[in-house]
Amino acid sequence: MLNLPWQKSNALQKRAFKVMPLGVNSNFRFWGEGITPYLQKAKGAYLWDVDGNRYIDYRMAFGPIILGHAYEEVNEKVKQEIDLGTLTAMTYELEIETAEKFVRMCPGVEMVRFACSGTEATMHAIRVARAYTSRECIIKFEGMYHGFQDYTLWSTYAPVEAYGNPRNPIPVPSSSGIPRLLNQMIVTLPFNAPDILENTLRAVGETVAAIIVEPCMGNCGAILPQKNFLQFIRKQCDKYGIVMILDEVKTGFRIANGGAQEYYHISPDLATYAKAFANGYPLAAFGGKKEIMSIIGHGVAQGGTFTNNKPGVAAAWATLTVLQREPVLKTIEKRGKRLMDGISQIFTEAGIPHCMNGYPAMFSFAIGVEKVSDQRTWNESEKEYYLALIEAMIERGVMPDHDPREPWFLCYSHNEADIDTTLDVVSEAVKAVKR
Ligand SMILES: Cc1ncc(COP(=O)(O)O)c(C=O)c1O
Repeated sequence: MLNLPWQKSNALQKRAFKVMPLGVNSNFRFWGEGITPYLQKAKGAYLWDVDGNRYIDYRMAFGPIILGHAYEEVNEKVKQEIDLGTLTAMTYELEIETAEKFVRMCPGVEMVRFACSGTEATMHAIRVARAYTSRECIIKFEGMYHGFQDYTLWSTYAPVEAYGNPRNPIPVPSSSGIPRLLNQMIVTLPFNAPDILENTLRAVGETVAAIIVEPCMGNCGAILPQKNFLQFIRKQCDKYGIVMILDEVKTGFRIANGGAQEYYHISPDLATYAKAFANGYPLAAFGGKKEIMSIIGHGVAQGGTFTNNKPGVAAAWATLTVLQREPVLKTIEKRGKRLMDGISQIFTEAGIPHCMNGYPAMFSFAIGVEKVSDQRTWNESEKEYYLALIEAMIERGVMPDHDPREPWFLCYSHNEADIDTTLDVVSEAVKAVKR
């Protein structure tokens, strides 16, 4: 249990409880009563809570902050642009330029439409896939998260015991309020299991509109795809005429300028983006093959009042500009790798069995297991010990997310000294917490 002098945070939480469920505007931001920090400010790689404690931040707002909090060049561009109007229901040149940059940077994207959140982006991509194929069923993988829309909020964080046999998994809705009828349109499968995917497609392939997949399990311990698994999905989609949707909401503009498509040389039909696209401002996107995207507006509805909001577009323009001009992701990769290797070494020296997962810009570790390949195997890791370690780190000024499913995120503003400090803190935490 976190033990920090969070008097002001606790007072704010009490106030917030009266007007917002759990005192927050997203369930994921509630850590518990009396143990949820409230924010004063964020700058660069750091956060300050309202009690004045400073943390090296590895949550990065769940991934969007790729350059750093309150990054000046991005904020300057936003300030400059918002004086010319924030929302107008008219398309403008900076918006087109941002779309052009986007299409140039993301290898498989020939056309793009903007949205406001990752949830919206996946929702739109699914509609387009359904319209394009005239089919309704969607395949998603257990433990993957594609936002809060009802179509794919299945088998995301349910107890894996509820999932049934991996050859014939039971889709489990991740919330009350999801219509039962949608069960007929979703198939959930374990990640990294080509045989199971192949068998399933043999049975239902011709009814499937889309397979939606995160390149790695960005919402379950950053488990990587096994060699050629994404390529296998690509081939199966071609075989059955299924739209492959790569959900790059976490990996886009983070693991490579061209996201997982560049990193894995994979060409999905559609891809979805949000987080790092605008360094923390609200802008998302979905895009892909011209042939598919072109059906939008021809009997296929897509839109949204805020989808070209000026702060989001200006921030995305500036973020992509910095990504193209400077070695942002290479720098993050180098520092993240040092951090990953350092953490692994600390565990090894302490005799703690573990495996490191993910990419240097977005990684995690599972304790007590040698290898994880899907949510079912990851579930065997020592999650309570993970939480205890993270709490000891937060008490010492280093803040990854306390949820073991959520990766550690780095940004361009984390410097070498932050990595040194973090490794010292990890070492202290390992000494302080009994396994
Ligand atoms: C892979 C993935 N897709 C979609 C989403 C939903 O994005 P948003 O929270 O912007 O709606 C998330 C959010 O974490 C995500 O990780």
